[in-house]
Amino acid sequence: MVNPEVELEVKLDAKLEVKNLRFRYNGFELLASLGVKKGEILTLLGPNGSGKTTMLKCIYGILKPKAPCVYLDGEDIHSMSLKDRAKKIGYVPQIHHPSFPYTVLEFVVMGRASQIQVFDSPSEEDYKMAMNALKLVGIVDLADKPYTQISGGQLQLALVARALVQNPEVILFDEPTAHLDFKNKIKISNIIRKITLSKKTATILTLHDPNLAGMYSDKIVLIKGGRIYSAGKPEKVLNGKVLSDVYEMKVRVVDVDSFKLIIPDQTY
Ligand SMILES: Nc1ncnc2c1ncn2[C@@H]1O[C@H](COP(=O)(O)OP(=O)(O)O)[C@@H](O)[C@H]1O
Ligand SMILES: [Mg+2]
Repeated sequence: MVNPEVELEVKLDAKLEVKNLRFRYNGFELLASLGVKKGEILTLLGPNGSGKTTMLKCIYGILKPKAPCVYLDGEDIHSMSLKDRAKKIGYVPQIHHPSFPYTVLEFVVMGRASQIQVFDSPSEEDYKMAMNALKLVGIVDLADKPYTQISGGQLQLALVARALVQNPEVILFDEPTAHLDFKNKIKISNIIRKITLSKKTATILTLHDPNLAGMYSDKIVLIKGGRIYSAGKPEKVLNGKVLSDVYEMKVRVVDVDSFKLIIPDQTY
C-alpha cells in the first residue's frame, strides 16, 4: 500500500523533516516520512483514526518514537530541551478544555511563556504581542472575557493566537477548522496561509475536508491506517480513484470553473 514515491518527498532543503517515523500504540502503528519547507503548508488528510493526530504529537514530542526521526534544519527535535522546542514549534491541539477562567488575553499571553525567563511575569511587550495576535485572528473584542465563556470556534481562534505569540518556526494545527462555521473556516484558513507566507513558518495541519485541503495546501499527505497512501501536490493526491480507495466510498472530482470540486457519491 505504501507509495514508493513518498520517500522522495523528504527533501534535503526541507525545514522540518520526518524520516522513517515509527510509532506504536497497542494495535496501531504509524510509519511515515515527510518534509515541509519554510513558507509551505502541508496538510495531513485521512479518515478518522488514520494517525493524523499521532503524527502531530510525534513531531511536537508529546509522543516520543524510540529512534530520532524529526529534524528541524537538520537538528534532532526530540533531543532539544522542552523550552527550546516550545520556542521553535507551536502546537494548536484539536481538543482543549478550558479549566481556570483566565481572560482571553491572559490565556494568549501564556503562549509567551517559553520566551519569558523563569519567574518573570509577562512584560508590556508580551501583552502587546498578544493583543496583535488577537487582532490578527479577529477576536480582539474578546480580550477581557473569561475564556471559559467563549464559543468553541472562538476558543479555536484564541488557541491560534496563543501559538502565534511564540513566533515559532514550525506550526502544527490539529483540525483548526473543526468547530468553525462556513465563513470562519475560510477565515482561519486564510489566516493560516497569511502566517505561513509572512512569517515563513513550516506549517502542518490536519483537515477533514478535501476541498479545503485542495484550496490551501502546497502539499497533501494522505494517510490511511497509519501508512502514507499518497503524497504530493493537491492536483496529484486529490483524484477520484485515490480518494475513493482511502475513504472506501465512491468520490468524484468535478471541474467547476478553474476549481476542482470533490464530491461523494450520495448512495453511500
Ligand atoms: N492514547 C492512545 N492510546 C492508544 N491508542 C491510541 C491513543 N490515541 C490514539 N490511538 C489510536 O491510534 C490510532 C490513530 O489515532 P489518531 O492519531 O488520533 O487518528 P486521527 O487523528 O487520524 O483521527 C487510532 O486507531 C486510535 O485509536
Ligand atoms: Mg485527530
